Amino acid sequence: MAGKFSFVSVMGALLVLTIFHDPIIVDAGQGVPEVALFTFGDSYYDAGNKAFLSKNKNPPQTLWPYGKSRDDPNGKFSEGYIVPDFIASFAVADASILGAPAESMTLNQQVNKFRSMISTWSDDYIEKSLFMIYIGTEDYLNFTKTNPTATASAQQAFVTSVTNKLKTDIGLLYSLGASKFAVPMLAPLGCLPIVRQEYKTGNDCYEPLNDLAKQHNEKIGPILNEYAKKPNGGFQFTVLDFYNAVIRRTTRSYNYRFYVANSSCCGVGTHNAYGCGMANVHSKLCEYQRSYFFFDGRHNTEKAQEEIAHLLYGANTNVIHPMTVRELIVFPAKENMRELWEPNKPSIRRRRSSRDYLDLSAYY
Ligand SMILES: *[C@@H]1O[C@H](CO)[C@@H](O)[C@H](O)[C@H]1NC(C)=O
Ligand SMILES: *[C@@H]1O[C@H](CO)[C@@H](O)[C@H](O)[C@H]1NC(C)=O
Repeated sequence: MAGKFSFVSVMGALLVLTIFHDPIIVDAGQGVPEVALFTFGDSYYDAGNKAFLSKNKNPPQTLWPYGKSRDDPNGKFSEGYIVPDFIASFAVADASILGAPAESMTLNQQVNKFRSMISTWSDDYIEKSLFMIYIGTEDYLNFTKTNPTATASAQQAFVTSVTNKLKTDIGLLYSLGASKFAVPMLAPLGCLPIVRQEYKTGNDCYEPLNDLAKQHNEKIGPILNEYAKKPNGGFQFTVLDFYNAVIRRTTRSYNYRFYVANSSCCGVGTHNAYGCGMANVHSKLCEYQRSYFFFDGRHNTEKAQEEIAHLLYGANTNVIHPMTVRELIVFPAKENMRELWEPNKPSIRRRRSSRDYLDLSAYY
């Protein structure tokens, strides 16, 4: 099994992605240490593991049109590269924190897999490396489907159970020596084309799912702050406000040069959101993928993924906070962060001087 998970020595890749838009692994240079990027979570960050775990010999993501712009379908959920393409990924499609389909791994199983392989890397290397975790989509989609009439308190209890698992699994990674964590907030799940299609919301998002994502997101920063406050603990992290980054792109898509952000490029149905790559579905593929924000019903196009990687690496504090991924990588190991995560960072800064006049933060 170990062979199914590969690792690439890393940070050069993020750097290259930012500068040349092409994630070829090279020596990082420029003061960025060579470290690994370990990703955990669901299909967003799955660099193809699900395809190996699947009992189905040809799951959709291994079939055309997935990967079409990069020659081959390769088990990744876009027409080309995905955010952590430059990395080895522990992320497995459809993984969820509280239990997952038989073919996939929960976050806890992924963490245990990492634990079983930990002697592969030195403690020093693990401590300097970046751990990215994106998880929860599957939990909330499933909860909403199976409990359509859940009360507010049942929803809160469910969010707490999901975020407590996340907290425990991050704590487990930390106890194994991981010390740098990048945790994107959940996307507005109610705006995914597959959700709009299944709940028949037309051009609107399905708000009950957005509410669950918001409740989940509110807990992420405080959970991470708790670890980071331990004296001399050396726990470092940053949180990408992926929720609002997606909202900006779905509500003002033209500003970001996405011409379609309310339905998918590949699939069938009112929002073209179902069945991309499935052998028995005659899905439609849009002509120009780069003008779409979503490739299939729940995953972004390569162009969108490239933008997200840029946000992680270099967006301002309204978008990624308390530091960028680049700053996180170069932050001295073993030191505590100087600034913690704060709620309600203003999303648009006041323009106070002529220098600030060119601040484009609202466009991130
Ligand atoms: C989906 O929800 C049902 C009912 O709450 C639960 O039994 C099942 O384990 C869940 N599946 C996943 C993959 O979380
Ligand atoms: C998506 O938005 C466009 C432009 O606003 C609109 O014409 C179209 O009907 C919307 N699609 C769906 C499925 O609601």
